[in-house]
Amino acid sequence: MNTTDRILRVDSLTKTYGKGGNKTEALRGITFDVREGEFLGIMGASGSGKTTLLNCIATMIRPTSGKVILRGQDISEFRGSRLADYRGRIIGYLFQEFELLDNLTARENITLPLALHGKTAREAEGKMRKLASMLDIAGVLDQFPSQLSGGQKQRVAAARAFIANPDLVLADEPTGALDSKNSKILMDQLASVNRELGKTIMMVTHDANAASYCSRILFIQDGRVFHELRRHTEKESTAAFYERIVTVTAQLGGGGANVL
Ligand SMILES: Nc1ncnc2c1ncn2[C@@H]1O[C@H](COP(=O)(O)OP(=O)(O)OP(=O)(O)O)[C@@H](O)[C@H]1O
Ligand SMILES: [Mg+2]
Repeated sequence: MNTTDRILRVDSLTKTYGKGGNKTEALRGITFDVREGEFLGIMGASGSGKTTLLNCIATMIRPTSGKVILRGQDISEFRGSRLADYRGRIIGYLFQEFELLDNLTARENITLPLALHGKTAREAEGKMRKLASMLDIAGVLDQFPSQLSGGQKQRVAAARAFIANPDLVLADEPTGALDSKNSKILMDQLASVNRELGKTIMMVTHDANAASYCSRILFIQDGRVFHELRRHTEKESTAAFYERIVTVTAQLGGGGANVL
């Protein structure tokens, strides 16, 4: 791969939780690259280390060994304002359970990351309108989370993840709490943010349907990369890619996509 289009390199990453007889080796030497503009899926059974991997990249936890390299720079060396910039602007995070603040409206939740970086609501307004329209939440911006459906909450959370114009969005099972209709809406919209705004997305999912929107999928088993699938070309349909994903997940889990 041409190193200029590589945004992130995960190099021999390991993470061991606990000590002595109580150790869990969540990551056992995981290495891969993420390309600029890629929509990368991460699949693997429960406990295989997917969230641990995302949290290491997000600097929420510290790996035991190995490196995460952003455009040639080791993120473990980031300090002070560089670290704050990395956490607050360079990466965006989308969680399974939305994690919206209940006492803020949808609009305020979305623009919160900008407020934390000293940007005014006015500066954010144009950006927010564009995202709100792409994510189909323009009509609910003045509502509080308790007044939104699960699907709307997740689309508000997606707008918040993208508002600071991050280079990389990390999503941990973003469709995990959604029904199939809302999952499809979210995935269609994430795919168009990826395509139209060129945003790089790395998404953990158990759902073969959601994964079929990705351009490449890494399958993780016991803290290592076990297999990789690439969408053949732009021409391979999500339906055809879905079939290939289900075949691998069946091999991996020993029986059907819902094992993952
Ligand atoms: N804070 C922690 N302390 C100790 N062990 C942990 C901690 N977090 C995770 N683990 C262990 O590390 C392993 C990997 O956990 P992780 O949450 O990364 O899995 P996952 O692939 O995201 O699973 P799931 O699909 O269920 O979300 C598991 O065995 C888990 O029990
Ligand atoms: Mg997890």
